[in-house]
Amino acid sequence: MTYSPPPIVPAGMTPPAEPLMTPPAAPPAASPGPPAPLEFVLNGESAVYAGRGDARLLDVLRDVFRLTSVKCGCREGECGACAVIFNDRLVNSCLVPAGMVALGSVTTLEGFRETERFAVLDRAYARFSAVQCGFCIPGMVLASEALLRRNPRPSPAEIREGLSGNLCRCTGYNAIVEAVTLASKEGEGLW
Ligand code: FES
Ligand code: FES
Repeated sequence: MTYSPPPIVPAGMTPPAEPLMTPPAAPPAASPGPPAPLEFVLNGESAVYAGRGDARLLDVLRDVFRLTSVKCGCREGECGACAVIFNDRLVNSCLVPAGMVALGSVTTLEGFRETERFAVLDRAYARFSAVQCGFCIPGMVLASEALLRRNPRPSPAEIREGLSGNLCRCTGYNAIVEAVTLASKEGEGLW
């Protein structure tokens, strides 16, 4: 490349206008195309989701897979109504991008209710009338399952702590604590 010095302009004269630089034409934007299908295990069976990876798992489970036990409460990770079990951990599905569950395993109440552990929890919740409007119960039962997996014989204080991410506006919590205590005894050996 050859260097061309700028023209010398005598004092008092206006320099010539700079030539307008025309930027090179940008290449045409590549079309993003449809997202790659995402495979995961849902309630023990293979599932494929072909939508956006940044969609909330909550919305995908409810609107695509029609798993309406997963409740939409706050959508901010505060109420636990949308809780599901993902790879053995309780998560609030409103905070999980669908793309994160690729190749993982998700369990909602629809899948958990096929288990013997659900039957024990179900009986115990019924025994203490720990269900009123029911809105919090799918998340509460999955939180109970996650707690009992970690700690099969929790104290009442440990149950309150373990379920502290799940809000219930109806029961005052005492009946739920008693139900989980009973389930931990009657389900001995299952957790
Ligand atoms: S809806 Fe997810 S925590 Fe409330
Ligand atoms: S039973 Fe109504 S919110 Fe818990």
